[in-house]
Amino acid sequence: MNIKVKIRRFNPEKDRKPYWAEYSLDAQPWDRVLDVLVNIKENQDGSLTFRRSCAHGICGSDAMVIDGRNRLACKALVKDLGKRIVVEPLRGLPVIKDLTVDMEPFWRQYRSIQPFLMNDDPPPYTERLQSPEARARFDETTKCILCAACTTSCPSFWADASYVGPAAIIQAHRFIFDDRDHGAQVRLAILAEGNGVWRCRTVYNCTEACPREIEVTRAIREVTRAIVTGEIR
Ligand code: FES
Repeated sequence: MNIKVKIRRFNPEKDRKPYWAEYSLDAQPWDRVLDVLVNIKENQDGSLTFRRSCAHGICGSDAMVIDGRNRLACKALVKDLGKRIVVEPLRGLPVIKDLTVDMEPFWRQYRSIQPFLMNDDPPPYTERLQSPEARARFDETTKCILCAACTTSCPSFWADASYVGPAAIIQAHRFIFDDRDHGAQVRLAILAEGNGVWRCRTVYNCTEACPREIEVTRAIREVTRAIVTGEIR
């Protein structure tokens, strides 16, 4: 079938401001938006710029705004979107070119919560064992692929990029509730600061945007409760 794709484009080397470009092409209902973008790049305009790597919903590199909602281009099917598709770069991060945004502000927030296992106990001969129940406590937040779909759908982040954002809180949750980790109080103190969890207004955009179906807002509430009560187990 023939589809029309409208793409928000911007090349800072030659454009004074962003503009809309429209492309017409044939696509199959089961094509993904990523296939459509590759088709346009290969057959109509080689200068179209976007990120992608795995093409299977794992690496998180092709998050973008598709028909007004944050999604992974490699998971959004043409048959679910119709014959007119609108594609824009993620909001709240500077555009480098076309659909490619500067992720550095996002990575800065991610690094701020110290996303690594803290445990000074001497390593055991084998793994640091954990019960299935203890693992289940934070299993959901291990699914995060750091695509930034949640953080860049958040009005609090749009208003002030110093807000640590949903993705960083999700990553903190993954360690705070891991009983092998000893850094929970460090992370809770970081997230209790002015740019931490208090900026969440419970809008639920993040939960709707997550391509991994993580209940992001609920995880943020759990971290907030841990800050207030001091209880993590
Ligand atoms: S290209 Fe890796 S998640 Fe889409």
